[in-house]
Amino acid sequence: MTIDIDLNSVTVPFHWPQIFGVDGPVHVEIGSGKGRFLLKLAAEHPELSLLAVERAGKYHQLVCDKAGRRGLKNVRLLRTTAEDLLFRLLPPDSVDALYVLFPDPWPKKRHHKRRLFTPDVTEAMVRCLRPGAPLLVKSDHPAYAEVIEAVLHQTPGLESTDPEEAFSSLPLTGFESKYVVEGRKIHAFSMIKTSGQEHKRN
Ligand SMILES: C[S@@+](CC[C@H](N)C(=O)[O-])C[C@H]1O[C@@H](n2cnc3c(N)ncnc32)[C@H](O)[C@@H]1O
Repeated sequence: MTIDIDLNSVTVPFHWPQIFGVDGPVHVEIGSGKGRFLLKLAAEHPELSLLAVERAGKYHQLVCDKAGRRGLKNVRLLRTTAEDLLFRLLPPDSVDALYVLFPDPWPKKRHHKRRLFTPDVTEAMVRCLRPGAPLLVKSDHPAYAEVIEAVLHQTPGLESTDPEEAFSSLPLTGFESKYVVEGRKIHAFSMIKTSGQEHKRN
């Protein structure tokens, strides 16, 4: 299996051992950008299987190249949308952590409909997580952070935990490393899937 997943050559919904060649814990990042977070996490945790989805072809290729040059065997990249990933590709109750870090805020009112965090999407996030698994989100945009917080708290099957603790051992993303230098406030959300939300397996 190459780093860059070819959707024509894999089973859908995904079967993780086919994608990674091992059956270990799977962490998924949505919108990996230039890959700072993903590649650091992969290098620090070879025991994890990491999948990132990115819709921008330029960034997707950049991160494929970086992961290849660094010899990271535990990384897979997929060029598609978060919605395709969540509604079609991820099996239920199969993801051990989901990261959505600095999703595009679409600040103009006429663009709000493009925002990722809607009840349908967060319900799909819950579906793919294993019971007890975290959904970790960050945003630097105060108005979008309010929307994210409201949607997360209204989503059945999620409960909040301490974000400081949840993020304490995780790398910074590319955007975040710039924001920290600028002194911008970061809004962090840490949710876990409650155990009552397990989907029946066939
Ligand atoms: C603001 S950037 C943040 C990148 C990275 N997470 C970071 O913090 O440095 C948002 C990224 O998400 C990607 N993206 C936005 N909407 C997406 C979607 N619906 N599906 C997949 N990727 C998306 C963008 O192309 C961009 O690379």
